[in-house]
Amino acid sequence: MLSYRHAFHAGGAADVHKHAVLALLLAHFRQNEKPFVVLDVYAGRGTYGLNSEEAQKRREFQHGIAKVWRHPNRLPLLNGYWAALNALNPDQLARYPGSPQIVRDHLREADQLVVNELHPTDHKDLIRWAADDPRIHVHHRDALEALVALTPPKIRRGLVLIDPAYEVKTEYDTVPAGVAKAWTRWPQGVYTIWYPVLSEGRHLSERTKLLELINADILQTEFELGRNKTYDGMQSSGLWIVNPPWGIDGVIQSAGDWLARYLGQERPAKHRLTWLRKSE
Ligand SMILES: C[S@@+](CC[C@H](N)C(=O)[O-])C[C@H]1O[C@@H](n2cnc3c(N)ncnc32)[C@H](O)[C@@H]1O
Repeated sequence: MLSYRHAFHAGGAADVHKHAVLALLLAHFRQNEKPFVVLDVYAGRGTYGLNSEEAQKRREFQHGIAKVWRHPNRLPLLNGYWAALNALNPDQLARYPGSPQIVRDHLREADQLVVNELHPTDHKDLIRWAADDPRIHVHHRDALEALVALTPPKIRRGLVLIDPAYEVKTEYDTVPAGVAKAWTRWPQGVYTIWYPVLSEGRHLSERTKLLELINADILQTEFELGRNKTYDGMQSSGLWIVNPPWGIDGVIQSAGDWLARYLGQERPAKHRLTWLRKSE
């Protein structure tokens, strides 16, 4: 199918929530000198022009990154995320880093990034984007197939980002099943799964399935975008983190609360952090 193009949504409030959490997880991995690996299996394009026809069509970034990127009280906890933005935007906000770029900006010499994208145009862009960087490996296959085939990775400390477009409704079933397969092969990996909260509430059955199939700690961060209750599109952006690193809940809470202060739309935004399962 592949009609979804992330270029239309780059830098929106859901991206800000997702990428802020990603940057916090990466900062955690960098605290230890042992190398880490990131598998970004629905990678998109790498970076996005905010003056492009696609981004200008809905200007979602105006409700997202444009509100916080040069905020006078920028939260220092998110310095890794701000650095990725600054590197692309020396003057004005013109480009937005997708998840591969944010990860790349956190890699040290021995760390690795595996990016996978099925859309042929975005895949070609990724190949160009990663050229000459021996730390990055680009794949062109179905994300869940890649996820299972690439686990366990050689470097065993690592993070997986699962960021589907959910254009195919069966993804609410196939994603938790695919993640569970990978988790069986690599139980110590940290898996971060993005989901949208829409009026149909399909994320609830996805969450039930995840909890049934994966017997590990799972943390949920949900960011309500502050749209009119009558709005029929995405109401909240959510992430489930399987095997959340110790202490990550506190930093996600602080960052989510900070973002909620500035990112509302017709109503104030809200952030909620919930342990779905936590071992003693
Ligand atoms: C939400 S976007 C990814 C955004 C990116 N992770 C970021 O944060 O910058 C989802 C991407 O998955 C790709 N995609 C959709 N179905 C896929 C599949 N079955 N396998 C691999 N990629 C897929 C789409 O082309 C799209 O680029």
